[in-house]
Amino acid sequence: MADLLTARSLTPDSAVLTPDSTVPDPGTATDPERQPTPLELAERRIPPRYRHAQPDHPQVTTWIQQVVLAARPGPSGAPGIATGPSLLIAGPTGVGKTHQAYGAVRGLLHAGVRLRWQMTTAADLYAAHRPRPGHDSERHLRDLARCPLLLIDDLGAAKASEWTEELTYRLINSRYEHLLPTVLTTNLPTRDLRTALGDRVASRLAEMTERVVLTGPDRRRHPSAS
Ligand SMILES: Nc1ncnc2c1ncn2[C@@H]1O[C@H](COP(=O)(O)OP(=O)(O)O)[C@@H](O)[C@H]1O
Ligand SMILES: [Mg+2]
Repeated sequence: MADLLTARSLTPDSAVLTPDSTVPDPGTATDPERQPTPLELAERRIPPRYRHAQPDHPQVTTWIQQVVLAARPGPSGAPGIATGPSLLIAGPTGVGKTHQAYGAVRGLLHAGVRLRWQMTTAADLYAAHRPRPGHDSERHLRDLARCPLLLIDDLGAAKASEWTEELTYRLINSRYEHLLPTVLTTNLPTRDLRTALGDRVASRLAEMTERVVLTGPDRRRHPSAS
């Protein structure tokens, strides 16, 4: 948690983020007028398992600081997410990749950065794009491509084909060209990313992302792992 607070120090107004940060202050809990904070609104969209995820990996904290520093004043005067580096969180199953990815969103919001964000697993992305009547998959792809902050979980985990490679390429290339911050997670070591995703995607990821390699035991099987 202290790691996250380093990012917080960039915004003196932000409140301390604790595991209970979504529990309203007793003085305001009963105030029907109180508007939820952006962090509270985001936490409603974060799956319960990761709702209080702390970005406690030093490289993730550093990335948050970089994105905070690159933020630009928006219409309301509050800093809004701008262009910036992306993050590739790699490591075997259960080491905490998804935890750090959601933690990164929470860390940015906690630091006072206004942002729109979306999360998809790569498998859900491909499923959503299978052609079916009445579904405008091009529009969905455009929304993801342009979203100011996008999380793509488990890249390279789904069975690859020319079709998945093309879809991944179009999404990653768009975010690459527009320098849009993207947090990706993958089980694959670097050498296998290229085989699974194709060289066009792997090359762009190599340039646009900072790579965080998580190690350690599977936390699902060893919950006391630190
Ligand atoms: N830094 C952490 N502190 C506390 N719990 C964690 C941390 N990282 C992961 N966990 C927990 O460990 C489990 C596996 O984490 P997860 O992020 O789903 O792993 P992965 O995405 O690498 O497979 C989850 O229950 C998660 O809540
Ligand atoms: Mg995961």
